[in-house]
Amino acid sequence: MRITIIGAGYVGLVSGTCFAEFGHEVTCVDKDENKIQSLSQGIIPIYEPRLETLVKENAERKRLKFTTDIKAAISEADVIYIAVGTPNRRGDGYADLSYVHEVTEAIGQSLRKYAVIATKSTVPVGTGQKIITHLKQINPNLEFDVVSNPEFLREGSAIEDFMKPDRVIVGANSPRAIELMHELYRPLLIQEVPILFTNLETAELIKYASNAFLATKIAFINEIADLCEKCNADIQAVSKGMGMDKRIGEKFLHPGPGYGGSCFPKDTLALTFTAKEFQSPLSIIETVVRSNKQRKESIAHRIIEVMDGCVSEKTIAVLGVTFKPNTDDMRESPSLDIIPALQSKGAKIHVYDPQGQKEGLALLPEVKWCLDPYTAIEGADSLVIITEWQEFGALDLARIKNLLNSPVVIDLRNIYQPQEMEKAGFTYYSIGRASVKPLKSSLVKAA
Ligand SMILES: NC(=O)c1ccc[n+]([C@@H]2O[C@H](COP(=O)([O-])OP(=O)(O)OC[C@H]3O[C@@H](n4cnc5c(N)ncnc54)[C@H](O)[C@@H]3O)[C@@H](O)[C@H]2O)c1
Repeated sequence: MRITIIGAGYVGLVSGTCFAEFGHEVTCVDKDENKIQSLSQGIIPIYEPRLETLVKENAERKRLKFTTDIKAAISEADVIYIAVGTPNRRGDGYADLSYVHEVTEAIGQSLRKYAVIATKSTVPVGTGQKIITHLKQINPNLEFDVVSNPEFLREGSAIEDFMKPDRVIVGANSPRAIELMHELYRPLLIQEVPILFTNLETAELIKYASNAFLATKIAFINEIADLCEKCNADIQAVSKGMGMDKRIGEKFLHPGPGYGGSCFPKDTLALTFTAKEFQSPLSIIETVVRSNKQRKESIAHRIIEVMDGCVSEKTIAVLGVTFKPNTDDMRESPSLDIIPALQSKGAKIHVYDPQGQKEGLALLPEVKWCLDPYTAIEGADSLVIITEWQEFGALDLARIKNLLNSPVVIDLRNIYQPQEMEKAGFTYYSIGRASVKPLKSSLVKAA
């Protein structure tokens, strides 16, 4: 089957590569010429485990190619995926569908035979119908079906998630499109991956409702963590105890500095606007959006409080700036709230992140980028762990203690155990753990 993916970003590139790995013939299109040039030379513009190898292998087998020629790519395809960005619109926060409209226009101009047009971009309920209307306006004789096939991959484990998803959701209104989508996902059906067929609107909403629910779990556990600190309870044990209940599940119950990334912040916000448009407000999600925003903003104050209320002229070593581990994606990362707030109070920031520097350079000015954790820590007045990269779980604690000016560790991901840090001679602060001496605000001191 010939597939064209328009938008070769995190989702488009991973989806295209995985469809090629399934054996389909895939063309990835992007309007970013540099990106396409790099990809054609086997250079991957993003960091995603296993992606580089799979792109190279499938390109060598001639199942995966890259182009900026959108017209040719559209006219040849059986299935055309729209995988462009849908950020929040500046000013009001609604989903910005301008890229989707641009692509719809191009499809309308170049479609020559029947094709399924599938949205992988996360688009508000009703967008599929709008695409149908738009295409019919361009040319009433076009032969096509529009399908919603939202993507649930997680950056950092995107290949695994695409190849072995919990489910595939397809919103389609025509038997012809359903048959084609069956054919497309046959390699997953053989592995008994469930595929749920719905109407267009339902599929569109499943994506937003899923993200909003997961974001709610995170915001919920963060607030419970704050309560733990006030009442001498331990959030790690609370999460574990809750997660043992199969109705609740253990995932997304880890407290931290607030959720970030390219999806949860924008999708929760966009969903609240969709709900208002339909006059069916989602007060729970509105609260989640507010709670998470406040949390991200408040973390810097907590760090300052831990550092005796003043960070002016002090150096803070930060480990991890990407919004989560195993990605280079900085979009809406909590570090983008925390670091500038500390800088505005006069702190000097040394950063180490295994993959974050490329994106972070422009986003975090006046930061000293270091090539390893120990260089960042040397001479600092405290160490703050923002992102839980695996390599931060096995730091040489004795070495860190020697390198720090004062042995203060602020662990926003609860990577370490309070007892072991205390034993190693640190003044250690983490989130939501039973405390001996509670702080006024919510980071808990273990010594
Ligand atoms: N990143 C994720 O983890 C994730 C997961 C699930 C769903 N999604 C959704 O998938 C969509 C894409 O997200 P992403 O993270 O891959 O975005 P991205 O910004 O990484 O990639 C989008 C790409 O589309 C290209 N593009 C924009 N307009 C174009 C046009 N007219 N023609 C050709 N190319 C064009 C851009 O140049 C860019 O390379 C969004 O709607 C997002 O919400 C993302």
